[in-house]
Amino acid sequence: MSSQHKLWSLVVIAGLFFSACSMPARFKPKNTATTPDGNPSLNGTPGKKHTKIEVFSWWVGGGEAAGLNAMIKVFKAEYPDIDFENAAVAGGAGTNARAVLASRLQAGDPPDSWQGHAGQELIGTYVKANQLESLNFLYAQEKWLDVMPKALIPLISKDGQIYSVPVNIHRANVLWYNPKILAANHLTVPTTLDEFLADLEVLKSTNTIPLALGEQWTAMHLFETVLLATLGPETYSGLWTGKADWSSPEVRKALENYQRVLQYTNSDSSTLSWQDAAQLVVDGDAAFYIMGDWTEAYYKELGKKPHADYGWAAVPGTKGVFQFLSDSFVLPVGAPNREGAIDWLKLAGSKEGQDAFNPVKGSIPVRSDTNRSLYDEYLQSAMDDWAKDILVGSLYHGVVANDSWKTEINTDLGIFLGDRDIDRFQAALVAACKSVGTCS
Ligand code: GAL
Repeated sequence: MSSQHKLWSLVVIAGLFFSACSMPARFKPKNTATTPDGNPSLNGTPGKKHTKIEVFSWWVGGGEAAGLNAMIKVFKAEYPDIDFENAAVAGGAGTNARAVLASRLQAGDPPDSWQGHAGQELIGTYVKANQLESLNFLYAQEKWLDVMPKALIPLISKDGQIYSVPVNIHRANVLWYNPKILAANHLTVPTTLDEFLADLEVLKSTNTIPLALGEQWTAMHLFETVLLATLGPETYSGLWTGKADWSSPEVRKALENYQRVLQYTNSDSSTLSWQDAAQLVVDGDAAFYIMGDWTEAYYKELGKKPHADYGWAAVPGTKGVFQFLSDSFVLPVGAPNREGAIDWLKLAGSKEGQDAFNPVKGSIPVRSDTNRSLYDEYLQSAMDDWAKDILVGSLYHGVVANDSWKTEINTDLGIFLGDRDIDRFQAALVAACKSVGTCS
């Protein structure tokens, strides 16, 4: 276990455990449903009304919907009395969905549950706005504290209350590559940023796109990995807590590296989804792509084969560091079908639900007791890395910054993609940290 694992797990977990144990059991499990005459129903749920739950996410596109559908299938088999409304809104990384969700919450019209990210997106956005119910009662009832990673609990908790049910762990800092293109150009998989830049330079004079890139959020995804590769895990993490200095020469160096890497990307990036950009690699049009490990689910869906059509490595300069994010489902205050939403959360946190979802979604389960043999070679390697690597959180995918901070950085980065002015970008990043109150 890494020192960071230990660090995160201390203190909070103990408090959480005790508060979870003392929570009243507000949840009525499905097997205690009553018959019309008020007696508990032990087989099935004859007394239960036919109801509907609406679950919100952005898992529509290639490689994403399949994972959700696998979990919905288990849900429908287990809860035949509940109609499942899949309210997914298309758009990678939730770019569109998050906006739709925000206006629904504004209008007092929450879905029964939605998929968000563990970390500041959850705590610094929805919990801060009192939009979520505490789930301590469910953690106590389902004994989830025994099987969920201790490092994750503080990221989904505030003041001893736990606010979401994580269904997976994804890795952000993955370099995908086309092995045939590397071999044809006598290149090996780069392990440092300098090696990476040297490879990109070689590829520049070929017909191949050196580094695939998609729409703006994928550029921000690339940005956070280059920040990590340049600064290392400690300084990278310090940027989000006020311990590291956004105006430092090291951050400037990271921005220079980012600028250099961007020079090797396709000029039509803004018109491509993350899947389109991923496809350039397996179609033989691009050599490299930096993207989260949902990419592998997409490659498999396209029928592509590991090692032959694609390979993977940690983003150069980040070996031994796992930049993670965690998709997690929540219980909104005012969920129209609260009881049905709790049934969905129970499935999301269960071994059965996680083992149905993750092998297809291209992520690893959060629970420690799942069936490793269901996971492919890439995912087993991710499980091993998650257990031994230094953990740092993703920026775009909600772990380290709340929505306001992330939005400011995204705006500044959008301007940078146009003007490529490093001084202006760095000054804007310094200002963003101050405006959210993390830097003085
Ligand atoms: C992330 C999300 C992943 C995947 C990805 C691409 O934010 O956590 O599960 O969906 O976006 O859409």
